[in-house]
Amino acid sequence: MSYQRVNHTNEKQIEEVLATLSLEQKIGQLNLIPIEGEVTDEQRELIAQGKVGSVLKSNGAKQNKELQEIAVNNGVVPILFQEDVIHGYKTITPVPLAEAASWDLELIEQAAAVAAKEAAAAGIHLTYAPMVDISRDPRWGRILEGAGEDPYLGALISEKRVRGFQQANDKQEERVLATVKHFAGYGASLAGRDYNIQDISERELREIHLPPFQAAVDAGVSSVMLAYTAYDGTALTANQFLVQKVLKDELGFKGLIMTDWETIPNLLKIGAAENIREATQMAIENSVDMDMTSNAYIDNLAELVASGTVDEALIDESVRRVLRLKQQVGLLDAPFLYFDEAREKATLLSQESKDTALAIARKSMVLLENKAALLPLDKSDEKLKKVAVIGPFAKAQEDLNGWWFAMGKGEDTQNIFDAIAAECSGFDIEVTFSQGVSISKFDKVGEEFITEAVKTAAAADVAILVLGEEHWMSGEGGGTASLHLPGLQEQLVEAISASLTPVVSVIVSGRPYVLTNVASKSTALLQAWMPGTMGGKAVADILFGNYNPAGRLPVTFPYHQGQVPIFYNYKRTSHSFDAGEKDLRYTTTYRDVQSEPLYPFGYGLSYSEFVYSAPTLSATSMTKDGSIELSVTVENSSAVDGVETVQLYIRDEVSKVARPFMELKDFQQVTIPAGKSLTLSFTITAEKLAYIGPNLQSCVETGIFTVFAGPNSYLKGTSTNFTIEKPQEAYAAQFRFV
Ligand code: BGC
Repeated sequence: MSYQRVNHTNEKQIEEVLATLSLEQKIGQLNLIPIEGEVTDEQRELIAQGKVGSVLKSNGAKQNKELQEIAVNNGVVPILFQEDVIHGYKTITPVPLAEAASWDLELIEQAAAVAAKEAAAAGIHLTYAPMVDISRDPRWGRILEGAGEDPYLGALISEKRVRGFQQANDKQEERVLATVKHFAGYGASLAGRDYNIQDISERELREIHLPPFQAAVDAGVSSVMLAYTAYDGTALTANQFLVQKVLKDELGFKGLIMTDWETIPNLLKIGAAENIREATQMAIENSVDMDMTSNAYIDNLAELVASGTVDEALIDESVRRVLRLKQQVGLLDAPFLYFDEAREKATLLSQESKDTALAIARKSMVLLENKAALLPLDKSDEKLKKVAVIGPFAKAQEDLNGWWFAMGKGEDTQNIFDAIAAECSGFDIEVTFSQGVSISKFDKVGEEFITEAVKTAAAADVAILVLGEEHWMSGEGGGTASLHLPGLQEQLVEAISASLTPVVSVIVSGRPYVLTNVASKSTALLQAWMPGTMGGKAVADILFGNYNPAGRLPVTFPYHQGQVPIFYNYKRTSHSFDAGEKDLRYTTTYRDVQSEPLYPFGYGLSYSEFVYSAPTLSATSMTKDGSIELSVTVENSSAVDGVETVQLYIRDEVSKVARPFMELKDFQQVTIPAGKSLTLSFTITAEKLAYIGPNLQSCVETGIFTVFAGPNSYLKGTSTNFTIEKPQEAYAAQFRFV
């Protein structure tokens, strides 16, 4: 059979294939089984009988091809191979939260394209990404898998990641189908505990959680994974409102819907079904097409049809949706297209992949502090003779790769110590090491190691402390009550800072930690995230000035863990703490700590200095069909070229339903040469002023709007140009929408 590229669905072919299938074989198409490691005889038998429509886990082109041969030789519809390719397959790019910190949509798409190319070369047709759950709680371990707290940024990134997986590469055999997950509201798990209940209003669902799903659907995402959780008390698997009305009717999704791991039997655990038969019926009647790993469909559907409980037409519909995906990746015409060991060898960890991984690792890192312009370190500085690299993550490899690393290996990842040593080689600089503390399995390596680390730091001209969390501490099931760096790491920073050697702290983590103590004891602070295969080099490039940092936080960094959940776009209240009340006692403040975060959404420093002029508007009023241009001039007053992300926020001053203090509505990322100014222009249309109105429908209301164009959501920090009391005002302009 010759392969033809399929860009459209060929319904005739789908119907022809469907007509050849018995009821049992149809049900087999809906069954997804995991195969980890060696294939068992039982699994081979199931495939030969047509009881396996899809396989989960990456086992490489060779093994996947062997399994496909069993299917094809037995006249079974070819298998769709699936895997969690979340941020890279073999070459690991930064965790998605970190990638979001680049605010570089093209690079994010490219990173997804690299992941797709590698995964597809290893025989994977479909990935369980992008995860687009908005989260406002860094205690939730899965915050690292998404794009942070903002629905606007989240939606843009969702679209790019879908396109990167599904379309960006030239050839079909370099693309994978994307699965947007976890529909919907999972990121609001209460108290940061994974899989926990959430209780969000329909308004919050629509304003905050749905936009990235809508963006994925609009970008043509192939499948949707339903969350483990419930919405308004009804598990997603059985939630007709969310699946039928919202996902299908409103968002317009026509593709495949799958469960998460064993979600159908979970209906019993949460008390929504009496037995597995009932749970199965609830799922299929809610258009849940694919059963991940539970065997509920394979064990129960045939009987449900035979007894007349479930209409076979429902099963046919689900099978059509499976077959369409198979057709899209060429499986119905060329079952072996994705299994080419030579291509796999040439593609995994290729130079092209590593170049992209380095580019996005560098761009994702966020410089949080740089007191007295300590960074970048100058290798030709006479005073820089000894660099101490200290801390439990200085030589970490696996931990740089995060929680979902597919086939990525720690041994392919250069550690930060080695990268710094390589950077300094050829210069008259000695690089020393001390572990300081260990956080492995929480066994705290104590005081004597700290003493040795202090000695190492004291003997050096600068101490680079690499701190953070192990790769398993974030991610699925990675809820944490404490947001302080694990173990004795804060004590280590404190002890070393007393040595008077300047301290650069580098944080390897998948989530925002409370860095208040670390920041106060460090001269410079870099949020490096879990940066992937090329993360070590990216850190060295930033510390030594080969790269001018440009990352901006996609999530708020709390000042104190008691502040969470914390985010920038909170709704205005009568007593908002930053609404100008003189007596703070009667505002939404804490009595014991500041209410502002340590670092706000959108924040990040650069080696350049950017000075904003007050924005100007092309008119003072605007009509529904019209638009207004906002202009803002940003000057790079420093001697180094730099990248600035100019952010546009809007506040609706008066509205029927409470609106946020400010909302991100646009941004532009530009390179501004040293000493030069750039004037940027943003177009404001009615679409940017729309919101979910009183009837939960999108609407626009006339009135006054304030627009802010500045460096971050608190509009503070990067410039001393404005000395007025409320920094936001310096970045604001107002117009009337009529
Ligand atoms: C996770 C999903 C993941 C699936 C398959 C589940 O536990 O919630 O995000 O795709 O496992 O590995």
